[in-house]
Amino acid sequence: MKLRPFTLYLLPVLVIAISSSFQVRAANDQRFKTSSPFATALETLQKQIGYTFKSIGLLRRAMTHSSFSEENNRALGILGGYVIDTSVSLRLLNKDIDISPKDLNRRVSETSNVEISCAVDGMHLGLQKVVRVSPKTNSTVPAVVCGAFRAIFGAIAVDTGKCDDAGDVFLRVHSGEVGKALPF
Ligand SMILES: *[C@@H]1O[C@H](CO)[C@@H](O)[C@H](O)[C@H]1NC(C)=O
Repeated sequence: MKLRPFTLYLLPVLVIAISSSFQVRAANDQRFKTSSPFATALETLQKQIGYTFKSIGLLRRAMTHSSFSEENNRALGILGGYVIDTSVSLRLLNKDIDISPKDLNRRVSETSNVEISCAVDGMHLGLQKVVRVSPKTNSTVPAVVCGAFRAIFGAIAVDTGKCDDAGDVFLRVHSGEVGKALPF
């Protein structure tokens, strides 16, 4: 078959149009497949703590410092602090119902301590590399790491609507499945 000159001109145009439409589609597929580094970090974090969120937005918020966004982890961190105190108190009383109030208070405040416990646990999870902060904020300072760490348990409590699972996850993370901070 003899191609007419008109067809010969049209052919390369067609080839280019088809191949570029394939490229666009490939690029779109790529965007769906590869998630952002932050999303990947949240996936990894869930595996580390052994809890999968029903609402991943809660973990995203827990890993957002107030310097980064108005939607941040401050309130979740407060709830998380209570979850930690409660689960530690319950565990200590289960082990020894005769524990003195003084000892109980001391052990609870040790576990809540930003520098010696909370930030140490958070660093073991690598939260300083996950938490989103403003460019001017140092994500390695204990207050930032600790705030993000506490917020994880606040986020789990909100995700489940109760504090039980959040407390269990805390005790598991704190007592060494991920990295030991303070012995009980
Ligand atoms: C960030 O904070 C950590 C811990 O307080 C400190 O060791 C480090 O030097 C700080 N980095 C910068 C760039 O200020």
